Amino acid sequence: MNELTAGKECEMTPQQTVEELDRYVIGQHKAKRAVAISLRNRYRRRQLCRELREDIRPKNLLLIGPTGVGKTEIARRIANISGIPFVKVEATKFTEVGYVGRDVDSMVRDLVEVSMSLLRTQRIEHMGPKARERAHEKLLDVLYPEGRKYHPLSGYEKHSDKHGNLSMCIEETDSVSAKRQQLSEELKSGELDEKEVEIDVNEQTTPMVEVFSSQTGFEEMGINMQGLQSMLGNMLPSRQRRRRVKISEARDILFQEEMNNLIDHDELQKEALNLAQESGVIFLDEIDKIASSYTSKTGPDVSREGVQRDLLPLVEGTSVMTKYGIVKTDHILFFAAGAFNVSKPSDLIPELQGRFPVRVEFDALNIEDFKRILIEPQNALTRQYKALLGVDGLEVEFTDDAIEAIARYAFQANADHENIGARRLHTIMEQLMEEAAFDAPQKLSGKYVIDSRSVEKAIAPLLKNHDLARFIL
Ligand SMILES: Nc1ncnc2c1ncn2[C@@H]1O[C@H](COP(=O)(O)OP(=O)(O)OP(=O)(O)O)[C@@H](O)[C@H]1O
Ligand SMILES: [Mg+2]
Repeated sequence: MNELTAGKECEMTPQQTVEELDRYVIGQHKAKRAVAISLRNRYRRRQLCRELREDIRPKNLLLIGPTGVGKTEIARRIANISGIPFVKVEATKFTEVGYVGRDVDSMVRDLVEVSMSLLRTQRIEHMGPKARERAHEKLLDVLYPEGRKYHPLSGYEKHSDKHGNLSMCIEETDSVSAKRQQLSEELKSGELDEKEVEIDVNEQTTPMVEVFSSQTGFEEMGINMQGLQSMLGNMLPSRQRRRRVKISEARDILFQEEMNNLIDHDELQKEALNLAQESGVIFLDEIDKIASSYTSKTGPDVSREGVQRDLLPLVEGTSVMTKYGIVKTDHILFFAAGAFNVSKPSDLIPELQGRFPVRVEFDALNIEDFKRILIEPQNALTRQYKALLGVDGLEVEFTDDAIEAIARYAFQANADHENIGARRLHTIMEQLMEEAAFDAPQKLSGKYVIDSRSVEKAIAPLLKNHDLARFIL
């Protein structure tokens, strides 16, 4: 695997992964470390000789912790930070197979789609400039056919002398190329963007099939719509249709077409399959909800245990058919997460427990953590409110003692009522900011300071009244 395809995973050391996660998730060092190690181990494995490599299995992780302490948040951040194909699914999604649920293989198919789009993005970064240049030339051909350098919309270069330019005398050629040059500059400057132009567009002949195949029903029926679709796609010739579009749009269309011509699709697919099976990560959220002892109002136990049994081969290593080819799941890394407040990891069927050898417990969050969560992460709640209300000209400021008070009330509400972890901060902040959110911008503008008194005024009455607190906070 070359550097380009391996993504950032190969560059990130465990420390760097943790540093990245630190920007969004407060505390939970054990979990961050475990995740970082698992990811790095796969990179390490890939550097080994073939025999050793085959034997080293991924260290699947089971993340255990109360609700609202950052399990899903960590997953979301891994997806963003490391250029590895990553999908997150709720295990409960599979409990209703046959009704609205999906078969478990679908997550592997999703993973391959993610790999595809990662690689496509890389390709665009890589070959974009070339495609843009070609699109530009084509657009010039359309706008000024006399000076064409390329055969219109075909993609290959032809010698200009084959296009009638032969009969031109030297001066004419010069003036033609000068005009083309001038047009080229005008195009680049964007001053022609709003003008309209007629171009031939390749029509996709398969969108109808696409619509059907995205209906999950076909998966369970065992019909490989995707295979069918690519077969049809190959059989039906692509039709060209003349369309009148703005130049700015024409540029995009031609760019896409050129990109398509430049990308080697077979190679891309092969690489995507490889990337998914060597570097893919599947995050199974809410795994505790498919443990047998988990009592829910819907669905019988059988279906939950059934899902666990369905998951087994995937975690163990099996082959899954996707529209790009077969993916082996042996080296896909699985992270499973759950609150396990009702059920315990030992309630999962033993075979599945054994496939998640690394267990990490999340810590419960304390007042200090809440304070940090309120201000430190890049997407911290206080930042979000400041930005939102800033749109309406309100300059919101939280004093230190306000942050302290919010954290304390959140902690107290969790202790008195249900412990919902950091999600409590969301409900409290919502209450706290409700007035400002309504009054801005008509009644409120300028500086708006929130101190401990404003927090007390908004929250204390709610906390005192048990019923109110249960409903509102
Ligand atoms: N350690 C943390 N650092 C920063 N923010 C956090 C942390 N824990 C929770 N949050 C915030 O709380 C919200 C809920 O957290 P998250 O979705 O990770 O919960 P969870 O642990 O997956 O809980 P559940 O078991 O209910 O799914 C997140 O959107 C995030 O804003
Ligand atoms: Mg969660």
